[in-house]
Amino acid sequence: MAEDPAVGVGQTHSDREPAGARTLWHGRFAGGPSEALMAFTVSLPFDQRLAAVDIAGSRAHVRGLVRSELLDGEEAGAVLAALDQVEEELAAGAFAFVESDEDIHTAVERRVTEIAGPAGAKLHTGRSRNDQVATDLRLWTKQALASVAAGVLALQEALAARADEVGDAYLPGYTHLQQAQPVLLAHHLLAHGWALARDYDRLLAARERGDVSPLGAGALAGSSLPLDPEGTALDLGFASVFDNSLDAVSDRDFVAEALFVLALVGVHLSRIGEEWVLWSSEEVGFVTLDDAYATGSSMLPQKKNPDIAELARGKTGRLVGNLTALLVTLKGLPLAYNRDLQEDKEPLFDSVEQVTLALSALQGMIATATFRLDRMAAAADTPAAAATDLAEWLVARGTPFRDAHAVVGELVRRSLAGDGALADLAAADDRLGPEAAALIAPGVPVTRRTTRGGGGPAAVAAQRERFTSRVHADQARLPAS
Ligand code: ARG
Repeated sequence: MAEDPAVGVGQTHSDREPAGARTLWHGRFAGGPSEALMAFTVSLPFDQRLAAVDIAGSRAHVRGLVRSELLDGEEAGAVLAALDQVEEELAAGAFAFVESDEDIHTAVERRVTEIAGPAGAKLHTGRSRNDQVATDLRLWTKQALASVAAGVLALQEALAARADEVGDAYLPGYTHLQQAQPVLLAHHLLAHGWALARDYDRLLAARERGDVSPLGAGALAGSSLPLDPEGTALDLGFASVFDNSLDAVSDRDFVAEALFVLALVGVHLSRIGEEWVLWSSEEVGFVTLDDAYATGSSMLPQKKNPDIAELARGKTGRLVGNLTALLVTLKGLPLAYNRDLQEDKEPLFDSVEQVTLALSALQGMIATATFRLDRMAAAADTPAAAATDLAEWLVARGTPFRDAHAVVGELVRRSLAGDGALADLAAADDRLGPEAAALIAPGVPVTRRTTRGGGGPAAVAAQRERFTSRVHADQARLPAS
């Protein structure tokens, strides 16, 4: 049976209880909602992901109502027990959604009221779905960003492990995708690692800025009831509490920031993807993918395709689209809550899910691939790769760089025109000679980059240590959830 988008995940209309349960606003309305309205406005199919945080938010709200003496101990006990039961029913897949459950918040409250009776009807005291949904989504985002950050660390560890394992192996470094100067393979791998280190920072910073409780803002203006926003914020583990109720219910900066950071992670992963598509091609042949991380062709028996790398590249369009979609939704929205804000969830859930999957697939692909170090070295051992080293050899002996560049450039041109090998021309040139020509020998040029952060063995050894301690320090600050 085709899935109906208007009902819960994995559910069809026939699984649902018949209509009959009332909307949250039934008192004000003479008639019930049309099918078209429900079909267009429900968020239950995707916001069921918020069930756990919604229940956590409700528990904290109940405890707050007790402190404010708006619920007595017995009522609170009944509501908390009902919330436990709802949690169990949802976990067991036994929760029966009904037609009028337009979102997870409505569904949970309806069921709590069915179970706890009149005490359940007090659950929503002093609370609106506007502050409730903002609270839930902030709790969810906090957890999601911490879990994506853990995935980033795991990929960094895979890159570092491969960098250690390949030692001083080298490959051509490129600019304009033209061979420029050889660098250690470890240097190249760690370049991606450092970009991910900045992503890690951004994930944690976005998480920290979003760590503010909106609970107690009500629909938009706070409450006449003696609520305890500071207490519920503390109870839910938020670092701070809102200062302005209008802002609290309409602020989706935390979603926009999360989407930006996820899009940038995606951009970084897409660059790894593009590189590995090239590296695994027959022409370049720098890497052979493990069978478990490559795909075949339905028609061409010889094919082994880098689909993970391609999708890491391809899915990034979607991540950028999700960010764009939310920014456009937010643009021009009047204060405070508008139903448009419901459009914050699908982009966020999708970006978190896709980045999580991409991180883990790329990690596996990188951890299991075979580097073809002989091909990398052969590609890097072209005489032209040492041209800059010849020029710098002259510079070290007092020749101005522009002149040195011209001397070597002329030898390269003569070599390309068929006058002889660059090494022979350099050896025979009185400005250079045999000592300079020795720089062209295979494996020598890569050793010449010795400055901090450079691509030669000594500089990379120091960089490895800095990278490892950075990853260790980042592990130590990974939030528990
Ligand atoms: N499903 C809604 C959302 O995700 C919940 C809030 C609805 N509030 C309202 N006043 N209609 O934004």
